[in-house]
Amino acid sequence: MSKNILVSGGAGYIGSHTVLQLLLGGYKTVVVDNLDNSSEISISKVRELAGSFSTNLSFHKVDLRDRPALEKLFSKTKFDSVIHFAGLKAVGESVQKPLLYYDNNLIGTINLLEVMAAHGCKNLVFSSSATVYGWPKEVPCTEEFPLEATNPYGRTKLFIEEICRDIHRSDPEWKIILLRYFNPVGAHPSGKIGEDPRGIPNNLMPFVQQVAVGRRPALTVYGTDYSTKDGTGVRDYIHVVDLADGHIAAVRKLEDPKIGCEVYNLGTGKGTSVLEMVAAFEKASGKKIPLVMAGRRPGDAAIVYASTEKAERELNWNAKYGIDEMCRDQWIWASQNPYGYGSPDSTN
Ligand code: UD1
Repeated sequence: MSKNILVSGGAGYIGSHTVLQLLLGGYKTVVVDNLDNSSEISISKVRELAGSFSTNLSFHKVDLRDRPALEKLFSKTKFDSVIHFAGLKAVGESVQKPLLYYDNNLIGTINLLEVMAAHGCKNLVFSSSATVYGWPKEVPCTEEFPLEATNPYGRTKLFIEEICRDIHRSDPEWKIILLRYFNPVGAHPSGKIGEDPRGIPNNLMPFVQQVAVGRRPALTVYGTDYSTKDGTGVRDYIHVVDLADGHIAAVRKLEDPKIGCEVYNLGTGKGTSVLEMVAAFEKASGKKIPLVMAGRRPGDAAIVYASTEKAERELNWNAKYGIDEMCRDQWIWASQNPYGYGSPDSTN
């Protein structure tokens, strides 16, 4: 019998790619999303891509803070596991509006965990982030590194990790996998689903993509004086399809009777600078990306990349794609959908 998975935030960037891989893997998938920072169009695209598996997908516009709506879902369906993506994720906004972040990310998660426990569903995969390593003193980052949050968004990820460790301690029936993502980029190779941030993108590749399609004049490079190969920041970029596959590996791992509350990095283990990423994107797209060199962005670390050993060993998962494929697929998505899921008038 196929397993039932609830995916919170399944209409978003990483969520939609994961939902597709779940469907193709034969899972029944129920998506809840409040659509605050995502579009229901992603769900219809996932249906198209999933073909005959799309009958295993249902979507509910639900906010995790709406307890009765969650209760209703859990009383209708017995879920084997939950993959919890839903949350706000813009660092700058979280500094301006911390209560919004604590309310949305923490209250939403606590509600979800309470309803799960009440219905006897104690298997969880949570979207954490490499942001919990703060400014790492060395690289690669291993899962044992000390944890530190440097802004309210990061604190919500760290607090949720701690909440998960606490509930597992209090009730060992819980099986929880915390996935620390490095820098997800790229899109499904079909070009039908991808990242579609609202407003001015905060992250590098969505910005580069909008420059390439003519929506923004130039990329500002934040910091050219880091102690790195070319002075620009170094990150571990990971293809979103590889990341999605990491979730399937994690859901499978939850079947291991020995699993308690475990944490895994999902990255490639390779560091790439801003300028290297821009060069790879220019090659993939044939577009010139004009650059404006600027000072460092406050809060940025110089070099962050993952140790991938634990995920390879225990999840039997590793990233298959390199930066050329990430840029190729990002460009397919961007060139086919210059305004994401919207139209030129619906975005800014
Ligand atoms: C950022 C967040 C991090 C979050 C992650 C994934 C900050 C300080 N950190 O990480 O908490 O988990 O996104 O959502 O926002 N860059 C430019 N120009 C730009 C944008 C970025 O030069 O317009 C540079 C940055 O300085 C950095 C690299 O590109 O060196 C990657 O930046 P970004 O995509 O924002 O990711 P992170 O900083 O790793």
